[in-house]
Amino acid sequence: MKAIVYERYGSPEVLELREVEKPVPKDNEILIRSRATTVTSGDWRVRSLDVPTGFGLLSRLMFGVRKPKQPILGSELAGDVEAVGKDVRKFKPGDRVFAFDGARMGCHAEYKCMPEDGAVAPIPPSFAYEEAAALSFGGSTTLDFFRRGDLKSGEKVLINGASGAVGSAAVQIAKHFGAMVTGVCSTANVELVRSLGADRVIDYTQEDFTKNGEAYDVIVDTAGTAPLSRSKNSLASKRALAAGFWENARHAPDPVGGDDDGQENRRRARRRTPGGSARPGRARGKRRVQTGHRPALSLRPNRRRAPLRRYRA
Ligand SMILES: NC(=O)c1ccc[n+]([C@@H]2O[C@H](COP(=O)([O-])OP(=O)(O)OC[C@H]3O[C@@H](n4cnc5c(N)ncnc54)[C@H](OP(=O)(O)O)[C@@H]3O)[C@@H](O)[C@H]2O)c1
Repeated sequence: MKAIVYERYGSPEVLELREVEKPVPKDNEILIRSRATTVTSGDWRVRSLDVPTGFGLLSRLMFGVRKPKQPILGSELAGDVEAVGKDVRKFKPGDRVFAFDGARMGCHAEYKCMPEDGAVAPIPPSFAYEEAAALSFGGSTTLDFFRRGDLKSGEKVLINGASGAVGSAAVQIAKHFGAMVTGVCSTANVELVRSLGADRVIDYTQEDFTKNGEAYDVIVDTAGTAPLSRSKNSLASKRALAAGFWENARHAPDPVGGDDDGQENRRRARRRTPGGSARPGRARGKRRVQTGHRPALSLRPNRRRAPLRRYRA
């Protein structure tokens, strides 16, 4: 089968289209023929190992010390079940499915095996492969955050980075929970974020949300540009969720409502490790994706705990 393979960490040039062995499903696995996949900020992070100071060794231990342990990137896909192991009961050949394999990756290939009880589900009939493929990365991350953040109907939520893969899912899921949503993005994406359901959109090139006098019950910072030290005055209930873990670790934010001068935050950040709507999320970033904005590739809570910071007064 064809796959995009990399054998060393680095810029996009390390990626090569190659012929590799087609996987064979184990007794409890299904073999999926991929029809759509995504390139996300997670792929960029693992390919480049561009991580904040202090996380280099940890990242290499996770993903491979000298070279990548998993030579095929891609955390999510959508496609057709081509074959099933002898113990599989939930799926049959021909089923349209979407799947999320998180940090195990391996989705940038023509075929991928998944355990039938893994993060794999039938594609809703009205969804194209591309739409289904783009649901998991931002969707599962956001859903997990909001569940743990105990988001309630009527609460005011600000999403910093509302046009990205996580942010675009966050806008839609927060609306689903009945929240009043303000999205922050660049000029080019204001209409997109509005179309996703945001009640208000702030263009960060024109307005600094931390200085407009508004306060929110929950702030989701997917961009890493709103550390608590900057945004605490915009928090009404002293509660925040942070998606951009790496970036926020770099900013080493101060706690809100804490009394240890940021130490607990930094301890939590050190313990954390890196790790997915009605409309597909977006996978993008400078040289992360190289092709600019494009649909990301499914919906389930993260099996591992996602990088969340939640503070209560
Ligand atoms: N479970 C997990 O561990 C997990 C999973 C997924 C992602 N993440 C982390 O979450 C973060 C976001 O990931 P992503 O895939 O959503 O990234 P992304 O698709 O690249 O989106 C980045 C977002 O940041 C916005 N942005 C850029 N500069 C900004 C600024 N100065 N102020 C406000 N917003 C700004 C962008 O808006 P414009 O495009 O409009 O400029 C865009 O909406 C990353 O740090 C990623 O590592 C963690």
